[in-house]
Amino acid sequence: MSGSQQASIHGEWGSRWAFVLAATGSAVGLGNIWRFPYVVGEYGGAAFILVYLGCILLIGLPVMIAEILIGRTGRQSPINTMRTLPARYGAKPVWQILGWLGVVAGFLVLSFYSVVGGWSLAYVPYTMTGAFTGADTATVDEFFSTLLGSPGRLLLWHTLFMAFTAWIVMRGVEQGLEKAVRLLMPILFFLLLVMVGYGMGAGAFTEALEFMFTPDFSALTGQAVLVAMGQAFFTLSLGLGAIMAYGSYLSSRSSIPVNSGAIAGADTLIALIAGLAIFPIILAAGLDMQQGPGLVFVTLSYGFGQMPGGLLFGTVFFILLSFAALTSAISIMEPATAYLVESRGWQRPLATATIAGAAWLLGIGSLLSFNAWSGYTLFELNFMEIAEYLSTSIMLPLGGLLIALFVGWVMPLQVSEGELAFGNRWLYRSWLIAVRYVVPVAIAVVFLNALGVLG
Ligand code: TRP
Repeated sequence: MSGSQQASIHGEWGSRWAFVLAATGSAVGLGNIWRFPYVVGEYGGAAFILVYLGCILLIGLPVMIAEILIGRTGRQSPINTMRTLPARYGAKPVWQILGWLGVVAGFLVLSFYSVVGGWSLAYVPYTMTGAFTGADTATVDEFFSTLLGSPGRLLLWHTLFMAFTAWIVMRGVEQGLEKAVRLLMPILFFLLLVMVGYGMGAGAFTEALEFMFTPDFSALTGQAVLVAMGQAFFTLSLGLGAIMAYGSYLSSRSSIPVNSGAIAGADTLIALIAGLAIFPIILAAGLDMQQGPGLVFVTLSYGFGQMPGGLLFGTVFFILLSFAALTSAISIMEPATAYLVESRGWQRPLATATIAGAAWLLGIGSLLSFNAWSGYTLFELNFMEIAEYLSTSIMLPLGGLLIALFVGWVMPLQVSEGELAFGNRWLYRSWLIAVRYVVPVAIAVVFLNALGVLG
């Protein structure tokens, strides 16, 4: 009996759409709207975006297919799947490192993700009370700095965000979530388009297009390429087992390649649209492109403050951004939760509360890195920067590398070919070449290049 004919003990998606929605909900989040614009701003625009798009297509898409494939074939939590499958295929048990790496990376990602999700929550009442209406750039800037300067307020919003996340995860795989995503994502998309429209009229739209799409490769460093690759993994939710866990609840009749293409396509579209919404405002208002993690909050609140109807649009926008962040955060919790339920026999609520509590504690390090602990740095990186860099730029690509090697070289070809059912030999072959050669070599080269080994 092939693995995917058995169902997962945690349940199964009600329909193909439920999976696509949940996985898209996981992919689309702060990575698209907060992180993408700020790293693009920091690393200089078009050349970075081009490398990022190349990584999505040549690395992200094949790895996404591979990660869902492993999940659906194993039908267990990522940790147990990476114990069972290697044994089934006669491979060494070292592959279970992949499962554990994912759980550790998940804690790191969740810890700072919740802090930033908290900023998004905090901006709902700010916007609603008209704090940004007609405000100039100095005022919106000041607002963000004040938030970052206050550990108490950051802690409140971080706690609230983590509690929401845990509450949703406790309720299980399908309940409520599916409806929320189906309703909210289109509205978020619409509001981003409203912002693009505003940028076209009032912002420096042509300059923004030039910034985003006229590459200057001479300024591209090895570090930038590594960050672009990490961002591709982060935004597609790859490398830590989140999509693997979601894949384990996927019916064997649903097409993995088609679903993956849809998810990656939607995610990329939303990141680019977020860029088109944000960069015209930055360039027109003369905001600092390289200001880092505050970029989106400062820019958008300024934009909302200037545009007609901005009070309403802004309030709704930050509510939806918080929801988008929640649907991503729950997927980061899923691998560890499924493991505790499956192997330790924990009740789902207890498992969820424990994981949320641990990540919450770790997140306090991140929120203190903007105030009390801002002086403590390692290689000039503060606590949050270390958590972000280590997980996103190092651990996720490393996880992706192991995923690609596992499906390419360990999983029997009859299994992958049968499960993926590309319906076209050429497409299957291309994917196989990607996971066997392109992905591992590309990741290795980017790593070595960033270390300066390649000169
Ligand atoms: N992809 C999400 C975003 O862009 C974040 C996320 C969810 C994630 N699940 C993940 C990142 C798993 C890495 C791994 O906001």
